[in-house]
Amino acid sequence: MRIVAGPASQLLATRTAALLGCDIDLTDYKEFPDGEVYSRVTGEVTGNDIVIIQSTPTARDYIYLLQLIDACDEAKSLKVVIPYFGYARQDKRFNPGEPISSRAVARTINADQVFTINIHDRSVLAHFPCKAEDLNVAPEIGNHIESMKLHNPLILAPDDGALNLVKSAASLKGLAYDYLEKTRLSGTEVKIAPKNLDVKGRDVVLLDDIVSTGGTIAEAAKLLRVIGAKDVHLGCVHPVLVGNAVVKLYRAGIKSVISTDTLEKATSRISAAPIIAEALRK
Ligand code: R5P
Repeated sequence: MRIVAGPASQLLATRTAALLGCDIDLTDYKEFPDGEVYSRVTGEVTGNDIVIIQSTPTARDYIYLLQLIDACDEAKSLKVVIPYFGYARQDKRFNPGEPISSRAVARTINADQVFTINIHDRSVLAHFPCKAEDLNVAPEIGNHIESMKLHNPLILAPDDGALNLVKSAASLKGLAYDYLEKTRLSGTEVKIAPKNLDVKGRDVVLLDDIVSTGGTIAEAAKLLRVIGAKDVHLGCVHPVLVGNAVVKLYRAGIKSVISTDTLEKATSRISAAPIIAEALRK
């Protein structure tokens, strides 16, 4: 097996290859003056079992992935790991005339098998033209939260969409969990309904699949302070963290931010490599 490290997932690809003890190939990549991109696998793909690891947080990363897949057309087998799958949040037609963007993107992934990690909605998996499996990194997040030695911790989903993630992170270690009720007002604004929660004097970890602008978590953190939580921490799988998100979070009183390395940020202290390696060994 050879791993091809896509431009957006170099650290995770390296960690996965180290766990599997297999070869890892660099990708050469660049952007042309007109904005088109170019990528090339530097290792031998013909006749080999290839695994491409590449997140798609931007349109450019998505094109790199399509190019790398095409470059591997003479591989013996091709598996594609998309740790953070962009466009997953447009998983239905919310307004007339809209595309189901996640479907539009998933349909183009031409491989023998696809793996995603805690994809925003599992319904998207059905749109890949091949077998697709979503891997769950929540137990690793739960382990990390336990190691933080928090005071009477409560793991809290900012909305019911993140409840399964929170449940999965909390259950293994027997941690307490609950969720808040969120209404999205715009791309950057949300409203979190007050809720009768037992947070007085407790440490709370807000846990979400994706943190993008930080708007959801900032709102939730403000509410938690009002109702008496002690320290509020943030955990997430995919640290998209656009623009001023990190500063916004700290200004809202978030004590620390931890995430996985599906996207490579300074917060990426939990690795998804062990679950990827385990899935590839099967
Ligand atoms: C949406 O349902 C997701 O699970 C996240 O809650 C959302 O993407 C967070 O976005 P933002 O950080 O921009 O509020």
